[in-house]
Amino acid sequence: MASITLNHLVKKYGDGFPAVNDISIDIADGEFIILVGPSGCGKSTLLRMIVGLEDITDGDLLIDGQRVNDKAPRDRNLAMVFQNYALYPHLTVYENIAFPLRLAKGKHSEEQVNKLVTDAAATLELTDHLQRKPANLSGGQRQRVAMGRAIVRQADAFLFDEPLSNLDAKLRGQMRSEISQMQRRLGVTSVYVTHDQTEAMTLGDRVAVLKKGELQQIASPRELYEQPRNLFVAGFIGSPSMNFLPATLEGTTLKTAIGDLEIPEEKARTAAGKKVVLVGVRPEFFEDAKLVEDSKRPHGSTFAATLTHTEWLGNEQYGYITFDPAPEMRELLNSLAREMDADELRPQVVVTLDASSRIRGGRESELWVDTRKLHLFDAESGENLTRDAEAGAALTREAAEERAEEIATAQRADGRSESGSANGSDGAVRDSATVDAGRTGGATAAGGKHSAG
Ligand SMILES: Nc1ncnc2c1ncn2[C@@H]1O[C@H](COP(=O)(O)OP(=O)(O)O)[C@@H](O)[C@H]1O
Ligand SMILES: [Mg+2]
Repeated sequence: MASITLNHLVKKYGDGFPAVNDISIDIADGEFIILVGPSGCGKSTLLRMIVGLEDITDGDLLIDGQRVNDKAPRDRNLAMVFQNYALYPHLTVYENIAFPLRLAKGKHSEEQVNKLVTDAAATLELTDHLQRKPANLSGGQRQRVAMGRAIVRQADAFLFDEPLSNLDAKLRGQMRSEISQMQRRLGVTSVYVTHDQTEAMTLGDRVAVLKKGELQQIASPRELYEQPRNLFVAGFIGSPSMNFLPATLEGTTLKTAIGDLEIPEEKARTAAGKKVVLVGVRPEFFEDAKLVEDSKRPHGSTFAATLTHTEWLGNEQYGYITFDPAPEMRELLNSLAREMDADELRPQVVVTLDASSRIRGGRESELWVDTRKLHLFDAESGENLTRDAEAGAALTREAAEERAEEIATAQRADGRSESGSANGSDGAVRDSATVDAGRTGGATAAGGKHSAG
């Protein structure tokens, strides 16, 4: 287990194009970090630089404080878990897991190999499958074999490059929670690359959002969601995405193409002197005005709009409003699209309505929007003018505390089984799970350190 420090890392490929451009991240011992961003933003390159498969053009990479820029991959003691599993079809599950130990010829006795493999298999619930061949396993089981290989190496950190992107949605969900639980139990520092929203939001302690090789923001999922630093992060995180509306501000009135919105004075103040701003409103900040409780109503603004259509999903419904931006606003939307790395931004607003709402497309209806929660973005720089940095930092601190508690709980659970089998009263499977708990005892320290950091 180790901390990993990225210090102004730069990667330029042969043509001089900076695929990774001045990225600095401090990854704490035991932390689970997600790298997320659109295709081509440099996620894989950054991961490969950490593991040593790609030269570092500039900057320093430290593992536990030691500079490792010039170390070969095998001397960095990091384990990469590949998307395509890279299993050997002719070898059994046992031998596939044992493979890295066999590679280090003569380093491990047969007895040690056996113990490491059976421990890992128990952690991964593969004990019953050790004599099978990969072809006979499900996708999820294969993924676990690939992880078993990383575990037996007792690597200082796990690196994942979109490990679940080949799996169907259901299995992806299962594997996601398995990876999450296992990372907690092992307390092993992990860096995980994905372009999947849900994986990013559910797996990581902190999520690093990249765009064109540059780090946009690194924070807990909640901080990214509630206090995004700029337009790009705001638009990238969340599904359906945040709506963006060009607007002019007159006093505390936002004039938008879907109507006038009254906003709180302190929000208006953040944009004072700006002619044009972009209003960012998540779909769930809207509601059918008829369904808003009286006590809530003063915190928002009501306006009339005609939805083109609604989609009823059982638990909620989506409504769609298309708007016709003024010509000068259209240009702004186009540049916003470029900023977001999208082909175009449809002049459309998506709203979520309560499932009981009777609003339907084609008729004018009253909508309500919670104006406490909307964000105003600088139309030129994309900066979030309404961001509350302190509230954001508090969210990330809270997440770190919760996480430390979860790790401690997971490891207390393992500790119980340890004392259980010390009495010799447990069966074989339970016993190897126990040994695993003992072997990963250091993880408790990792969890503790993490909470302190
Ligand atoms: N071997 C390479 N040679 C030249 N350019 C590369 C190479 N690998 C990746 N790139 C470029 O670097 C950028 C980042 O790629 P990559 O790290 O694979 O992105 P991601 O994993 O986020 O999709 C892309 O523009 C890609 O075309
Ligand atoms: Mg990639």
